[in-house]
Amino acid sequence: MSLPLLLLLLYVYTAPSSAADCDPADRAALLRVKAQLGDPVRLSAWQPSTNCCAWDPAVICDAAGRVTALALYSLPDVSARVPPALGDLAALEILQVVSVPGMSGPVPASFANLTRLRDLDINGTSISGPVPGSLLAGATKLSTLAIANSKLAGPIPASLAALPNLRYLDLSGNLLTGAIPPGLLHGSFRFLLLSSNQLTGEIPSGYGDDDVDTINLSRNQLTGDPSPFLFGITKPSAKIDLSWNALEFDMTGVRFPHHLRFLDLSHNRIRGRVAKSLMDVRLEHLDVSYNELCGEIPAGRFMSAHGAECYAHNRCLCGTPLPPCSTSM
Ligand SMILES: *[C@@H]1O[C@H](CO)[C@@H](O)[C@H](O)[C@H]1NC(C)=O
Ligand SMILES: *[C@@H]1O[C@H](CO)[C@@H](O)[C@H](O)[C@H]1NC(C)=O
Ligand SMILES: *[C@@H]1O[C@H](CO)[C@@H](O)[C@H](O)[C@H]1NC(C)=O
Repeated sequence: MSLPLLLLLLYVYTAPSSAADCDPADRAALLRVKAQLGDPVRLSAWQPSTNCCAWDPAVICDAAGRVTALALYSLPDVSARVPPALGDLAALEILQVVSVPGMSGPVPASFANLTRLRDLDINGTSISGPVPGSLLAGATKLSTLAIANSKLAGPIPASLAALPNLRYLDLSGNLLTGAIPPGLLHGSFRFLLLSSNQLTGEIPSGYGDDDVDTINLSRNQLTGDPSPFLFGITKPSAKIDLSWNALEFDMTGVRFPHHLRFLDLSHNRIRGRVAKSLMDVRLEHLDVSYNELCGEIPAGRFMSAHGAECYAHNRCLCGTPLPPCSTSM
């Protein structure tokens, strides 16, 4: 999640903070967090005997003085493991850790105690190891799970598919391997962001009937034919990015959903012709470059929006916006 969203969240949650004096157990836990981070300069406002609900950055409390949100961001001088004391903030609903490049190690087992957690957003750290199973067991309220641009390794646990409230899953920019678990795509995700990992295997087919905003699986090593999966999306789905994989299928007869706004299939091994169904899709962005497509590009309706560059480096495409097909074709 971006910094503006983070600040917005903080703004939304700031209101009750100043009123309450902070819970002593939560203050003690935060001071342990600070110590476990090696007393970074930026947390110098975190002092005993002051109201932790007013600490900046960035502690948010509820009316009872329980810490419900914590944002740790831009701590370049930290070089430490993920503080286990974070797991002692029992009322925590939102935890954001952004741009703390020296925070490393696995997500500690104590996170299993964060049973109220709705939003875990970690971006730009050195957190490593597998996607934390302990967390998944306790966090049935989790609606946002984002551990991006870190060093998570190993497979994506199938148990993620069982989290009932998950709407936003971002594990992009890690070192994840193995297949996308079947069932993961059956949930009601609005955002499924798994780009820039080392995922292999086929994209599971049979997407559910839920609205999907963005699916970004680009820059992996995914193989096979994702068109059953593309067919299956029956409700609005704005963006699909499957670029930079090893997908192999014949595009000719694929019927793309007409509500798509963004489609990037570039840098794969897609063959056949450019699908005629794209004529009916009002795409703001199309890219099928660097594939093995051949034949005349369909003309008409929404096709005129797409320039030559989105068809570049294919086997033998021709027709507007590329040079005309030779009559012998
Ligand atoms: C994560 O951080 C990077 C920079 O470190 C930024 O470019 C990116 O937009 C951030 N992503 C999210 C999802 O916050
Ligand atoms: C969870 O909290 C309980 C009670 O504070 C504690 O005894 C236990 O060690 C914690 N679990 C983990 C995994 O840290
Ligand atoms: C998908 O992820 C890649 C790499 O993280 C990024 O460059 C690209 O812009 C993303 N695509 C969309 C549609 O957001």
